[in-house]
Amino acid sequence: MIELEKNNIPVAWVTGATKGIGLAVANAFAVIGCKVVLSGRNRSQLEINAGKIIDQGGAALPLVCDVTSETSVRTAMATITKKFGGVDVLVNNAGVTVFESFEKTTVKEFDQIMATNLRGYFLATKAVLTAMLKQKKGHIFNIHSVTAVATFTNSSVYAASKAGTLAMSRSLRAEVRKKGIRVVDILPGAVDTDMWEKPTRKKYHSKMMQPEDVADAVVSVYCQPQRMTTDEILLRPVEGDL
Ligand SMILES: NC(=O)c1ccc[n+]([C@@H]2O[C@H](COP(=O)([O-])OP(=O)(O)OC[C@H]3O[C@@H](n4cnc5c(N)ncnc54)[C@H](OP(=O)(O)O)[C@@H]3O)[C@@H](O)[C@H]2O)c1
Repeated sequence: MIELEKNNIPVAWVTGATKGIGLAVANAFAVIGCKVVLSGRNRSQLEINAGKIIDQGGAALPLVCDVTSETSVRTAMATITKKFGGVDVLVNNAGVTVFESFEKTTVKEFDQIMATNLRGYFLATKAVLTAMLKQKKGHIFNIHSVTAVATFTNSSVYAASKAGTLAMSRSLRAEVRKKGIRVVDILPGAVDTDMWEKPTRKKYHSKMMQPEDVADAVVSVYCQPQRMTTDEILLRPVEGDL
């Protein structure tokens, strides 16, 4: 692994950066010169992703971190602080779903979706917030979903988790916006990633957004003038929902 040193270059931590939207967001932060922490559960894929950034002259730290585990998240934050000096930008992105009717959704699936999507965002945010408040600056991007505000079948628990993250995030923003912290809510519609079942992805591929579209939105908000921020963005395929 590459030697990493502390300096003033902003550090962006992206959860769920093994693939999909998280990987695109991590790459986009690397392109604008940030040091990037890519976390997730698949170590070898994280190392491949970070290696590509490093090969292009960037700084990247691949980090195994299961966002459902408080210990794992705390350990990740300690490692980031040691290697990169802290976190300037957190992108809460790691997420899971099942496409299943309410009746068929199991308690185990409910627990896993809530633990990843809602608890995971809570834990990672808690891990970075105290230091951001001390610095009086920081960005927290929360990748929610259009399901937080629109109604779809076969996504009840996922929608509940995303409505939960959105509500939590709005409340957090009200608490910290006068303290220099920018909390930004991104609500994407359908994006062409592994989250979708293969046949759906194949059928709707050309109608879906690409992960890079979400990454562009995140980085463009990050690059806005200091005097302003964007609270919420709803991104959807041009023809609307699938
Ligand atoms: N695709 C869409 O249409 C869409 C639309 C709106 C919002 N979103 C949201 O966008 C985010 C990214 O989704 P995606 O579409 O890019 O899905 P994806 O391609 O399936 O990627 C999900 C990512 O989450 C990580 N992850 C899952 N469980 C984790 C855990 N317990 N701890 C740490 N990382 C975990 C996965 O990595 P590992 O498996 O290596 O841990 C992977 O990197 C999610 O929050 C999703 O709800 C997606």
